[in-house]
Amino acid sequence: MQIALIGCGKTGSKVADLLSGSDFTIFNTKNTPNKYKLRNHDVIICFTPGKVFLNLIPMLIETQIPVVTGSTGFDWPKDIHESLKSRKLKWAHSSNFSLGMNLIYEMIQVFKKAPLLFDDYQFSLNEIHHKNKLDSPSGTAILWENWLGEKMEITSIREGDAVGTHELILDTENESISIKHSAKDRKVFAQGAVWAAHQLVNNKKIDPGLHQFNELIRQEMKETNNED
Ligand SMILES: NC(=O)c1ccc[n+]([C@@H]2O[C@H](COP(=O)([O-])OP(=O)(O)OC[C@H]3O[C@@H](n4cnc5c(N)ncnc54)[C@H](OP(=O)(O)O)[C@@H]3O)[C@@H](O)[C@H]2O)c1
Repeated sequence: MQIALIGCGKTGSKVADLLSGSDFTIFNTKNTPNKYKLRNHDVIICFTPGKVFLNLIPMLIETQIPVVTGSTGFDWPKDIHESLKSRKLKWAHSSNFSLGMNLIYEMIQVFKKAPLLFDDYQFSLNEIHHKNKLDSPSGTAILWENWLGEKMEITSIREGDAVGTHELILDTENESISIKHSAKDRKVFAQGAVWAAHQLVNNKKIDPGLHQFNELIRQEMKETNNED
């Protein structure tokens, strides 16, 4: 499988480490991608800043190659899913490619029961990332907020080379419960993105369109458990 890696900074370089020994091409500001250079690749993995990725979308669609992107800090074009579907293209994205996010998703479903137990409660979220991160709050914080289905106060701290910590806190008058995820090494994101790339290329059951990483994982878990 020939992989095009667009963005080889803090996170993309971990993808490159993981791919060492296989066929892949690096694209960055010195070797910017275009549809001719991307020709002959089977899948594209992208870890550029969000605004850069947003500008690349029309060209990436033209390549007709599956795309996995971890870029954050941009809004998807409203018609992207339909647009990919109509061209029979399979793309996957996530603001956090760590496998542990799938357990967090389940935990947040439990947190959603808070109103059944408490008259008075409050959710809040703290996130910590490296000092050069461009977007704030993080894409993961926004994802967790969406999973919870409730707006909450988000505190964003930017310091040193922090890899990424998120803590969702449920506070009531007499107790406090939290869900915390700390990424220890950026290779956790690389592993998830490479897994998604293999899925897009090899799993014929994935339909065309834009898919959330978690959706692909859940589909795979169901198939492994032989569930309907
Ligand atoms: N989804 C996840 O799991 C996850 C995890 C971590 C980070 N992220 C997100 O991934 C993105 C990248 O984060 P990072 O910390 O790796 O950033 P980074 O260290 O700044 O790396 C950005 C990369 O993008 C390249 N780039 C910038 N402009 C470009 C252009 N016009 N054409 C091609 N390449 C270009 C840079 O090229 P040069 O090397 O030439 O400068 C660099 O290699 C961010 O949006 C971040 O939030 C997602």
